[in-house]
Amino acid sequence: MSAEKHMWWKEAVIYQIYPRSFSDSNGDGIGDLNGITSRLDYLEKLGIDVIWLSPVYQSPNDDNGYDISDYRDIMTEFGTMEDFDRMLAEAHKHHIKIVMDLVVNHTSDEHRWFVESRKSKDNPYRDYYIWKDPKDGREPTNWESCFSGSAWKYDETTGQYYLHCFSPKQPDLNWENPKVRDEVFDMMNWWCEKGIDGFRMDVISMISKEQSYPDGPLKDDGIYGDMFPYVCNGPRVHEFLQEMNRRVLSKYDIMTVGEAAGVTLEEAKKYANEEGTELGMVFHFEHTDGASEGRNVIGKWNYQPPRMPHIRQILNKWQTGLEGKAWGSLYWDNHDQPRVVSRFGNDAPQWRVLSAKMLATVLHMMKGTPYVYQGEEFGMTNMHFASVEDCNDIEAVNAYNQYVVEQKIVDEETMLKCFDAVSRDNARTPMQWDDSENAGFTSGKPWFTVNPNYKEINAAAALKDPDSIFYYYQKLISLRHSNPIIVYGQFRPLLEDSESVYAYERTLDGRTLTVAANWTEQEAACDLFDGLAGEEIISNYKEHKTGVLQPYEARVVLH
Ligand code: GLC
Ligand code: CA
Repeated sequence: MSAEKHMWWKEAVIYQIYPRSFSDSNGDGIGDLNGITSRLDYLEKLGIDVIWLSPVYQSPNDDNGYDISDYRDIMTEFGTMEDFDRMLAEAHKHHIKIVMDLVVNHTSDEHRWFVESRKSKDNPYRDYYIWKDPKDGREPTNWESCFSGSAWKYDETTGQYYLHCFSPKQPDLNWENPKVRDEVFDMMNWWCEKGIDGFRMDVISMISKEQSYPDGPLKDDGIYGDMFPYVCNGPRVHEFLQEMNRRVLSKYDIMTVGEAAGVTLEEAKKYANEEGTELGMVFHFEHTDGASEGRNVIGKWNYQPPRMPHIRQILNKWQTGLEGKAWGSLYWDNHDQPRVVSRFGNDAPQWRVLSAKMLATVLHMMKGTPYVYQGEEFGMTNMHFASVEDCNDIEAVNAYNQYVVEQKIVDEETMLKCFDAVSRDNARTPMQWDDSENAGFTSGKPWFTVNPNYKEINAAAALKDPDSIFYYYQKLISLRHSNPIIVYGQFRPLLEDSESVYAYERTLDGRTLTVAANWTEQEAACDLFDGLAGEEIISNYKEHKTGVLQPYEARVVLH
C-alpha cells in the first residue's frame, strides 16, 4: 500500500491549452473555445484526463489573458459563455475534465474594481488594491516588477503609487482586505457551481505581502531591488489558502494546483499537504528557473545548455522530499517555458523524436501528476527570433527595451540568443495541426508567427506514424492509468554518479519499476537491465545492447 490517500487527480494526466494558439474556428487568426471543442476527439485519443485552460476570461490582453477585467465573462475573441458551456459539456462527454486558470494575485487595471479604486482615496474599492504614499518623493520601495521596471506606478489622481508585481496593467489585489477574499471566493464558487473540475492558481504564492514593505537587495541591473523575499510565501499565504479551502475547495470534488513562484520544498509541504487543508499540488520552478545554474546574461535571460546532473539533482530532491508528505506535479513545458525538446533534448532532425520520447519517459515515470503542454505530444520545437519585432511576449519585449535599448548593458545579438533559448514566445506559436497553410491552425492570418518547421512537425503527420512521439505519449498515459506503481510507487534514485544516465526505480507492493534514460547522443554505460528478468513496458528503442544505453535511449522494466 502506498503512503498517500488515493485521489482521482493523482492518477490523472493533465493537458494544458493556451487557447489563443490552439485552434481557430472562425478565421480571425485567434484560437477560440469552439476551436477547442472541435479538437476534443484528438485529445481523447491521446488519453489525457484533464484540460487546464489558460485564462479565457474577459481581458484587454496586456499579458494574453493573465490580466482579467471580468472574471464572470468570456474573452470576446474566444467566444461566449454559451460556447464555454458547450465546450464543458462536450469535454465531459469525452471523459475530459476542465480546470480553469485562476488569476487572483492581480486583476487588469480595466477591471471594474480598479477603475473605482483609483478614483479617490475614500472610494469603497480603494483598499481592494495596494496603495502607498511616495517615499522621499519616489516609489515606496525599490522593487522590480517581473516584467522589468519598478513594481510601483504613480497615479496622478490621488498622488499615490499602486503595486503591480507584473505589468502596470496588472495591479495587485490586497488580500489583507476581507472583502477581496469574499469576492474571490464567491467567484470561485460560481465557477464550481457551473461544473468545472478545478483551478490552476496563477502565482498563488504571491498573494500575501510582507506588510512592512522593505527595500530588496539590488538586482543585476543595478537599479532595482528584489521583491521576491517579501511577496513570495508571505506571512499570511497559508492562512488565506486554508480559508479558501474551507469556503470553496472543500465543498467540491475538484483538483487544484498552485503556481508557486519561489516555493521551497519546505513550503511546498505546507501548500500541498496530504491532509488536504490547502491545495492538491504545486508547481515549483527549480528545474526550469534553475536550469541555467546562474550562468545568466541578466535576470532570467540565459542561453547556456542545461546539464543533466544538475536537473537530476533538483528533481530527485523534490521526488524524495515530498514522498508521503505532499503531492507533486511534473512538467517540462508550459506557456512560460521554452519547448522541452529544444531545451533539454536535441531538436536536430536525427535526434528530435528519440530525445523527446526519452524526456517524456523520465517525466512520466516519476511520482506526481504529469502535465503535457499543447504540441509537446508531437515534439514541437523552439522558434527562432531574428529581431525583437518577431516577439510578442511582454516579458521579452520589456526586457529588450530595458537592457538593450535604454541601459545598453546587453547587446542585441546576445539578447536574441537568450530569446531563442528561453523566451516564453517559444511556447506560444500556433499549434501545428497539419502541413496545410498556417499549419491548419487558422484559415485567416494567425495572430502570431507559425514555426516554419510545421511541414514536418505536425499532429497529422504524427497520427499517421505508429512510431511517432504522439503514440509514445499515448502509451505513457495509458501505462499510468493501468499501473498503480507509476502513480503511487515510492521513488528511489539510481546511478546518481552517472554524467549521462538518469535512472531511478519505483516500488509498490513488492514490485519494482526500473527506469533509465541516456541524455546524450553517445552510448552511455548502464548495467541496470543486464540479467534483469521482467517485462519491458516501454522503450524508444526496439533493440537493446548489454551494458550500455544507446543515444537518447530510455527503458522501463517492471519486475
Ligand atoms: C504566471 C503566468 C504567466 C503570467 C504571470 C502573471 O506566471 O503563468 O504567464 O504572465 O503569472 O499573471
Ligand atoms: Ca477565432
